[in-house]
Amino acid sequence: KKSTLIIDKHFIVGEIDHRIYGSFIEHLGRAVYEGIYQPESPFADEQGMRKDVVELIRKLNVPIVRYPGGNFVSGYHWEDGVGPKNERPEKLDLAWSVIETNQFGLNEFMDWTKKANTSAMMAVNLGTRGIEDAKNIVEYCNIQGGSYYSDMRKKHGYEQPHDIKLWCLGNEMDGHWQMGHKTAVEYGRLAAEAGRIMKMVDPSIELVACGSSALDMPTFGSWEDTVLSECYDQVDYLSLHQYYGNRDNNTPEFLANTVAMDRFIQSVISICDAVKAKKRKNKTIQLSFDEWNVWYHSNNQDKKLERWCKVPHQLEDVYNFEDALLVAGMMITMLRHADRVKVACLAQLVNVIAPIMTSDTGAWMQTIFYPFELISNHGRGTVLNTIVKAPVYESKQGDAPYLDSVCVVNEEEETLTIFAVNKDLEDSMELTCDLRQFKDYQVKEHIVLTHSDLKAVNTEENPNNVVPVKGDNAKIEGGILQAILCDKSFHMIKLG
Ligand code: AHR
Repeated sequence: KKSTLIIDKHFIVGEIDHRIYGSFIEHLGRAVYEGIYQPESPFADEQGMRKDVVELIRKLNVPIVRYPGGNFVSGYHWEDGVGPKNERPEKLDLAWSVIETNQFGLNEFMDWTKKANTSAMMAVNLGTRGIEDAKNIVEYCNIQGGSYYSDMRKKHGYEQPHDIKLWCLGNEMDGHWQMGHKTAVEYGRLAAEAGRIMKMVDPSIELVACGSSALDMPTFGSWEDTVLSECYDQVDYLSLHQYYGNRDNNTPEFLANTVAMDRFIQSVISICDAVKAKKRKNKTIQLSFDEWNVWYHSNNQDKKLERWCKVPHQLEDVYNFEDALLVAGMMITMLRHADRVKVACLAQLVNVIAPIMTSDTGAWMQTIFYPFELISNHGRGTVLNTIVKAPVYESKQGDAPYLDSVCVVNEEEETLTIFAVNKDLEDSMELTCDLRQFKDYQVKEHIVLTHSDLKAVNTEENPNNVVPVKGDNAKIEGGILQAILCDKSFHMIKLG
């Protein structure tokens, strides 16, 4: 098959906000305990943080990490996780039916962000709690001192404020499974008042309101409209969440989910802008896609879990090669909307639906680690409006292109990077792109992620089964790029 990318260096989508490469750590399963924190591990540092995990996270180059949930946050009392560890209560976590020991909390997380070279995106509990507690946590984190909660932080050994800039106003409040689930009007009002009081404490913070938990939520659309109508002035971002699965073992349909994701993003943009128009505002609401990934492999296993245990193996999806292709496609889809998707979080980061897995004997990289690593490290700069002329196939989502692709220009480095997924399971794709505006550019690097088996996985015993390799068939002649993208493959082609 043949495809063409059409670009013009003056025709841009927008600058990439580096926070589009964010991720997520929830108090859930083995994400915190045995994931990022395991004092008894030989890999732990003096604070109990796993150094091997930090090293892998640094490779992913993740600028923000959302914390502490997820569903967990909707019943969480942040005060339980600060102060002397021997005084912290053990509590029921009703979101995941486990016991939370609170041995890791807000201050440990903030210490960990520095080690992992990242920053916090902090969520407040708007499920079982309200505006008073939302106010207090901002005071604890961001006020220098001289007030009850800021002095409490100092007493806990943190002289300087954490200065957390990005805050989520609850989590998935449209979901019936959420503790303190609300109607759109109830949540919109609460988000407005919580947001207003949080910004009274620290006007420099930015706030994310909950959008829908997925595109197929029955309230999708009207939820966004109503919520924003209530809290437009107080918030800066509206969230989107979406997970995909291949439950019918239909890979073409599974990979066509990038079409659904694109539609989801476009729809939310439309609703944000409709509310803007209705309210005659200058301010534009941006998008925070703060939970996205593949999630389905572990669903059956998780149904068998005993209630009220500690640190169970929960949501431990073992990702295969086709999952990595979709993850690449999802990232490409978000980049194509870089003008509006400013924040995004791969959900999650360690052990729980994660690119990084741990055991007592080590840490390893799942298949989805690699597209994230390649795009996060090489996808910095400005997105070019990339017209993809490629053959399509029929899917439940409508016509799905065989090729997902986007081009990113980095003016500082003087590079142009192409990310591309060939979704064709049998045929290679000949890719052509006219680069005459990019005088004298040559292929600097071509990395390919492919495998003959769509279901191939990486495990602790066999961690290098699915890994990227060097590509050797991309060339520029007379200003025209030509590359052969083998069947079922992801490519990072850097030119400069
Ligand atoms: O990431 C796992 C869960 O998925 C989160 O806790 C919740 O927000 C979503 O439903």
